[in-house]
Amino acid sequence: MRKMGYLISINCVKLLITALLYTCVCSSSVEQKIYVELNQTVPCVRLLNATHQIGCQSSMSGDTGVLHVLETESDLDWILSSGPHPPYMVILETAFFNRSVMMRMKNSSRVSGVAVIISKTGLAHDFSPHTTCPNQNTGVYSERYGSDLANCNVTVWNPLGNGLSYEDFPFPVFALKDENQTQVIRKCYEDHNQRVNGSAPQYPLCAMQLFSHMHAATDTVTCMRRTDLQNRFGINPEVLCDPLSDFNVWTSSRALNISSKGHAVNESVVIAATRLDGRSFFWEQAPAAEGTVSGIITLLAAVHALYPVTQEAPPPRNIFFTFFQGEAFDYIGSSKMVYDMEKNDFVIDLNNVHSMLEIGQVGLRSGRSLWMHSDPVSRKNDDVNAEVLEMMTRMRSAAAGLNVSVAHPSFTQALPPSSLQRFLRAGLIPGLVLADHQTSFNNRYYESMYDDAENLQVTYPPDLSPDEQLVYETDAAKSLAEVATLVARSLYLQAGGENSSLSNITADPKIVAQLLYSFVIQKNNSWLRSLLPPEVTKKGVNSLLSSGPPQFYIGLGPRVHGPVHSVTRFVQYILANLTGTVTNLTENQCQDPSELSSENKDLFSYFWVSGPVSVNSSSEPLCVRASVRLSEAVSPAFELLEYGSRDYSTWTESRWKSIRARIFLVASRELEMLTLGVGVAVLLLSLLATYFISSKAELLFSSAHDTPTTAY
Ligand SMILES: *[C@@H]1O[C@H](CO)[C@@H](O)[C@H](O)[C@H]1NC(C)=O
Ligand SMILES: *[C@@H]1O[C@H](CO)[C@@H](O)[C@H](O)[C@H]1NC(C)=O
Ligand SMILES: *[C@@H]1O[C@H](CO)[C@@H](O)[C@H](O)[C@H]1NC(C)=O
Ligand SMILES: *[C@@H]1O[C@H](CO)[C@@H](O)[C@H](O)[C@H]1NC(C)=O
Ligand SMILES: *[C@@H]1O[C@H](CO)[C@@H](O)[C@H](O)[C@H]1NC(C)=O
Ligand SMILES: *[C@@H]1O[C@H](CO)[C@@H](O)[C@H](O)[C@H]1NC(C)=O
Ligand SMILES: *[C@@H]1O[C@H](CO)[C@@H](O)[C@H](O)[C@H]1NC(C)=O
Ligand SMILES: *[C@@H]1O[C@H](CO)[C@@H](O)[C@H](O)[C@H]1NC(C)=O
Ligand SMILES: *[C@@H]1O[C@H](CO)[C@@H](O)[C@H](O)[C@H]1NC(C)=O
Ligand SMILES: *[C@@H]1O[C@H](CO)[C@@H](O)[C@H](O)[C@H]1NC(C)=O
Ligand SMILES: *[C@@H]1O[C@H](CO)[C@@H](O)[C@H](O)[C@H]1NC(C)=O
Ligand SMILES: *[C@@H]1O[C@H](CO)[C@@H](O)[C@H](O)[C@H]1NC(C)=O
Repeated sequence: MRKMGYLISINCVKLLITALLYTCVCSSSVEQKIYVELNQTVPCVRLLNATHQIGCQSSMSGDTGVLHVLETESDLDWILSSGPHPPYMVILETAFFNRSVMMRMKNSSRVSGVAVIISKTGLAHDFSPHTTCPNQNTGVYSERYGSDLANCNVTVWNPLGNGLSYEDFPFPVFALKDENQTQVIRKCYEDHNQRVNGSAPQYPLCAMQLFSHMHAATDTVTCMRRTDLQNRFGINPEVLCDPLSDFNVWTSSRALNISSKGHAVNESVVIAATRLDGRSFFWEQAPAAEGTVSGIITLLAAVHALYPVTQEAPPPRNIFFTFFQGEAFDYIGSSKMVYDMEKNDFVIDLNNVHSMLEIGQVGLRSGRSLWMHSDPVSRKNDDVNAEVLEMMTRMRSAAAGLNVSVAHPSFTQALPPSSLQRFLRAGLIPGLVLADHQTSFNNRYYESMYDDAENLQVTYPPDLSPDEQLVYETDAAKSLAEVATLVARSLYLQAGGENSSLSNITADPKIVAQLLYSFVIQKNNSWLRSLLPPEVTKKGVNSLLSSGPPQFYIGLGPRVHGPVHSVTRFVQYILANLTGTVTNLTENQCQDPSELSSENKDLFSYFWVSGPVSVNSSSEPLCVRASVRLSEAVSPAFELLEYGSRDYSTWTESRWKSIRARIFLVASRELEMLTLGVGVAVLLLSLLATYFISSKAELLFSSAHDTPTTAY
């Protein structure tokens, strides 16, 4: 009898272990067979400002739903009311990704997530997920300043904006970028989930699971307070969100001494500015071709055209070229530079600023007219008005003989969203914003994934190799070169240069072509590689030169990602090439030239770059000296610890653990229930067995002790 009990218990334990092992092995192989991981997806993530959270997130363990492809209006009805298998994971065709559809999903408890097919087929004539009045609360116009112009009262700059990027979705939203993976999803849907003659499909059904749980919630104030608390008490030191940040890039026609801060004696500078970033609904997806790239390229090509002339026939005023990062998120870069100037923590201060010319969206497309926007409020001051009028006159004379025309909109119109607004908040600065729109933007895809090469009309004849495309002067390149020439000549005149030198200032369409190719088609090309440091161009070290065009989302910058890892770096090294001098320094000297009497770190930066590839297809790295600088682009709100600031950007990005997407087949509810039931039964059995063993333990194990030689 004793022996019997002992044997039973041993066998029982064995059985349990076997069962457990079996379950483990079995379930992992099942996982391998059934789950299809989708690795070519892009999430929408959560961003926070002083008062709101926007974006998307899943629950902690991911959200699951039965797949349904939204192709017709009746699908929408099926998903939102009649379909028998909620919640649904909705696959959206491009044509359905608009505000009305998304808001109906947001309002429904029957939707567990959305995956948007990103393709050009079915793309609407216009699509902008941005707001109609970008950076409405952080520009210059407010109750105190031009109140009748505030909130885009006179001109709505982005009337096509549907505001989707600023909504808060309680479910995950992903973009599907890869055709082949989209096909896999479609096939799974067609095989298992499609309605047959309007009746419900049968189990098993194809389901999708999306993981994008966000650590931060509510707003930046809450998130930063929680992060600070956790760090102070070391409870569980973990950062929940990070300020959006990166670097501005700047250079000047006459080198400035960066060791001396505050007012620079005898310096009068003309600022030439443009923005460096853009955004879209999805994370790190921001081609920003017309919205941002047109301005970057114009300014870079103008720098290149001006540089030799400013060295040979230097105009009396210095020209200060700057590329502002994070402008899409309430002017992060420009507000920081202005803040530093006010605090005497920058190489120049606001009194050094003579005037400012900003390059806005200048894609032109097929048009030929450019518009000089100015601020009617500051022009009520006679001195400012006189200088603004002179700037316009200079610009018109610079345009003479060029294939573009410049005009100015009516006097009562406000400035479009621009960095100049942040300078005007700090003082009376004469300035113009050059753009290709008289009133609202011409750009029909502002701050969306579709503001790409095609939107900027960059197209190549068929059968060109990548190297031929790189230098091919498209019509877009030619017209941007015209704009760049106009900008360069205007800046030269504005800096007090002589009219007679103007004919020597002409932007090179070949440089523009290379810039266009690098910024909207393919960054991994021989030209850009030759300008970057050798370690960047080695494969696999990092993804800076991955395939495709660069993305212009500001990101979290060096605090999180280490050294500058973005488009900032491209602009920095391109500027170094366009304005720099090749030196004969060795790699070590280049990294630290302070020992050499001939070199000066106060005035110059030193760049160790790959160099052009020679005939034997290897490149000789070399050291370039240029007065190109980076300056922090992080909102002053985070320096001042004013996380609820109304004056400065407060945007932060939530952190997350994992972003994943997968599809798999689910069995019927009944089968699931059965599986659950069996699981519960096994659990109960094992509990019972444990109870039995432990209650009879004395009996069982002491007896075993008594008769150690008992065999079985
Ligand atoms: C995605 O997964 C496929 C196979 O499942 C693999 O071949 C491919 O390299 C993966 N891509 C990325 C970007 O990880
Ligand atoms: C949204 O998309 C649906 C389907 O394409 C269309 O019927 C509807 O008119 C669109 N709504 C808007 C506001 O564009
Ligand atoms: C949201 O749903 C409620 C009912 O559930 C309805 O009354 C309301 O009109 C809906 N709102 C939108 C924007 O569809
Ligand atoms: C909007 O502008 C008009 C003049 O263009 C002005 O009469 C009106 O008061 C303004 N509205 C607000 C709210 O400032
Ligand atoms: C934060 O963002 C939301 C959504 O766009 C906006 O309504 C709100 O005004 C913003 N808050 C501040 C302080 O700018
Ligand atoms: C898709 O699959 C086809 C054939 O299976 C392949 O030729 C093509 O390169 C794939 N496309 C992508 C983007 O992976
Ligand atoms: C769908 O309905 C049509 C006519 O109503 C019928 O001929 C066809 O067989 C049905 N298909 C299925 C799969 O039941
Ligand atoms: C730059 O400024 C610093 C501090 O004012 C000064 O010590 C240094 O000599 C200056 N360098 C040059 C090259 O003018
Ligand atoms: C500033 O300029 C004036 C006139 O050009 C000159 O006399 C003076 O020496 C300059 N001061 C400095 C510090 O360079
Ligand atoms: C223009 O350039 C030519 C040669 O590049 C030079 O000879 C001429 O002096 C320049 N003109 C002016 C006004 O700088
Ligand atoms: C700029 O790049 C071109 C092409 O790689 C190269 O020939 C030239 O020497 C570079 N100039 C400087 C100053 O780096
Ligand atoms: C580099 O060039 C300078 C003159 O430009 C010369 O004095 C120096 O000796 C050179 N250094 C080397 C290492 O060749």
